[in-house]
Amino acid sequence: MRILALESSCDETAAAVVEDGRKILSSVVASQVEEHKLYGGVVPEIASRRHCEAVVGVTQQALDEAGMKLEDVDAIAVTYAPGLIGALLVGVNFAKGLAVASGKPLVPVHHLRSHIAANYLTSPELEPPFLCLVVSGGHSHIIEVKDYTDLRVLGRTRDDAAGEAFDKAARAMGMPYPGGVEMDKIAENGNPEAFALPHPSVDGAPYDFSFSGLKTAVINLIHNAEQKGQTLNVPDLAASFRKAVVDCLVKNFVRAAKETGSTKLVIAGGVSANSLLRRRLQQECAQRGWSFYMPLLSLCGDNAAMVGAQGYYEYCSGTIAGPDLNACAELPVERSYGSK
Ligand code: KG4
Ligand code: ZN
Repeated sequence: MRILALESSCDETAAAVVEDGRKILSSVVASQVEEHKLYGGVVPEIASRRHCEAVVGVTQQALDEAGMKLEDVDAIAVTYAPGLIGALLVGVNFAKGLAVASGKPLVPVHHLRSHIAANYLTSPELEPPFLCLVVSGGHSHIIEVKDYTDLRVLGRTRDDAAGEAFDKAARAMGMPYPGGVEMDKIAENGNPEAFALPHPSVDGAPYDFSFSGLKTAVINLIHNAEQKGQTLNVPDLAASFRKAVVDCLVKNFVRAAKETGSTKLVIAGGVSANSLLRRRLQQECAQRGWSFYMPLLSLCGDNAAMVGAQGYYEYCSGTIAGPDLNACAELPVERSYGSK
């Protein structure tokens, strides 16, 4: 089965053609990041406008690169939640138009489920059940993936998402948006023990995260140094911050795995590109004899191939939307389309 997939939840307009949820026939991503950099973050109104401008060309390119026409695909999948509402609506409405025009089924896909599915494209042997750490710009979840469309959240962030914390701390260190990527590079040359930073945990909720105190601690360090006319060593600060975030993620994830008896661990989302997180979890899993999966770097950030992968499994479970499909800015990852 071949699915034409669309993604427009944030600042990438993407289209892809994916076969049977596992094979990428084409994947096109038009990033708006250079424009949002000017403002230090994503400007929702600009994002929506750029999606409108890009969506037709990106979709055509995905079909061309797959050597297909619209009538050759079997279904159309689209990210419908969560994300920036104006941005999501562009993809959703365009996909609805394509579905009506072609008579093909329309499959709504949850953005976090699609991030997890990036792993099905990377590792053809990977099948649920497994435990997944989903870390992106907007979410930090530990999710028990019981089946492709049956998920249970065990832990979540109480405040900032991991990516958001990286971006805000990086901005305070003078790095351009999205700072998580830049901080990861700079941290490679720093001493992670140089600054003692807090490792916040949430009382009574061992799988939950809290990153805002850590972010504030770094911002205060920078402001105090500025007031005293001192300059901080940025690589050391970046390395210390990255280590503190990764320590928190790894600690709760490994604890959740031990307590649920999971021995198959998976990471997903933009922050799963973080080189320290990848190294640390590889080590943690190897020493316990657990298996560990992570997406190809090219599939960690937002793309439509992952939407096509998850769309396949949603379709197989009977999830099809009508022309009344709407976008949602917030939606729990457990909730399947159409269920209460
Ligand atoms: O999943 P994603 O592309 O978009 C959302 O769904 O939010 O995640 C974007 C986030 C940004 O906060 C970005 O800074 C972060 O992922 N990110 C990283 C790295 N690459 C991307 N954070 C830390 N280290 C990286 N290498
Ligand atoms: Zn994302």
